Amino acid sequence: MTQAATRDTAAAPNKAPFDVEKVRLDFPILQQQVHGQPLVYLDNAATTQKPRAVIQALVDYYEGYNSNVHRAAHALSDRATQAFEGARDKVGRFLQVADRREIIWTSGVTEGINLVAQSWGRQNLRAGDRVLVSAMEHHSNIVPWQMVAEPLGATVEPIPVDETGTLDLEAFHAMLDDRVRMVSVGHVSNALGSVNPVAEIIEAAHRVGALTLIDGAQAVGHFPVDVQTLGCDFYAVSAHKLFGPTGIGALYGRLSLLESMTPWQGGGEMIETVSFAGTTYGGVPHKFEAGTPNIADAIAFGAAIDYLNALDRAGAQRHEDELLAYAEQRAAGTEGLRLVGTAIDKTGVMSFLVEGTHPADLGFLLDQQGVAVRTGHHCAQPIMDQFGIPGTVRASLAFYNTRDDIDRLFAALDKARQLF
Ligand code: ALA
Repeated sequence: MTQAATRDTAAAPNKAPFDVEKVRLDFPILQQQVHGQPLVYLDNAATTQKPRAVIQALVDYYEGYNSNVHRAAHALSDRATQAFEGARDKVGRFLQVADRREIIWTSGVTEGINLVAQSWGRQNLRAGDRVLVSAMEHHSNIVPWQMVAEPLGATVEPIPVDETGTLDLEAFHAMLDDRVRMVSVGHVSNALGSVNPVAEIIEAAHRVGALTLIDGAQAVGHFPVDVQTLGCDFYAVSAHKLFGPTGIGALYGRLSLLESMTPWQGGGEMIETVSFAGTTYGGVPHKFEAGTPNIADAIAFGAAIDYLNALDRAGAQRHEDELLAYAEQRAAGTEGLRLVGTAIDKTGVMSFLVEGTHPADLGFLLDQQGVAVRTGHHCAQPIMDQFGIPGTVRASLAFYNTRDDIDRLFAALDKARQLF
């Protein structure tokens, strides 16, 4: 563990110790059979499963108080507004923001990064400016920057990554100069599981006057994050990777920065006054939330956070770390299996290739045995190209996985290999 401040494994006070078998009962979907076998769900980096409390929050909203927020003068709207804004508070506390207005609802990390690129980027990038991302980024942290930078004559440049999937910090420091305006990196690589030393990256970027955006999609489901301790300018998360619903996420932005930024989407909710002579915008966060928001899913995102807060997260994190170590130990003892991504600091992801097999074929054969993994380039083509591979098989963990899941994965792999 390299980031003690943000990866705290201290015991959680006043909470029942983490018990994986008990926790699994909270997730109805895990109780099913797939292709006649009990489901082994190892595709958590793609999306996590939802506890009953999250599903119930959606049902409660639609059955009890479905209504638009902020606008109407009636009881249901009042209730919806309180729950919706209450969920913003929950997300804010979860990320430890200084001011609740620093949480903007988005549809997920992708929209959060597009928002910053389209709003801050268009306003601030000039010809010759540089945006640094890492070579192992998800496409969602490359393409939005390219879309904005290229027409303006700015560049998007990759920070090198070595053959283990570790960011080359020396190269990063050497790339920094006063033309670097933004450093945008993933906290955890979705394809490799590498945990990036974001605190050091943020500090170094700030020294040359650059801003920082951290893609937290693959981090917040695994360990606590404190945006104030990190000191980043923006931090983006998706609820569905955090045991909440799809289609909702949050962007943290430093208040003074958000205040200085022009909105990127116009419509209802985001204005102060509208006339044909000119329009003025509302305050933060609403000026970035045009149109009717995703009310139900924001409320259920809050329920996911309540669920996590009630959990012994330090125990969950230890359990997950042990599982990953166990999986990698089993991988080391499996002939012909090559791990892709062997950084020292990793979380949640085991990507691999098996000699003589194609990842897609393996994925199919694992699925036939009830084991769900993802195969392919994982929306991270540049790092796959660098490694000279079309993709990997990726087993990705959540705290509800068990040793038995890992044993089932390796048993299924053995069986699948006999078919090649
Ligand atoms: N970004 C998600 C993944 O890594 C979809 O699978």
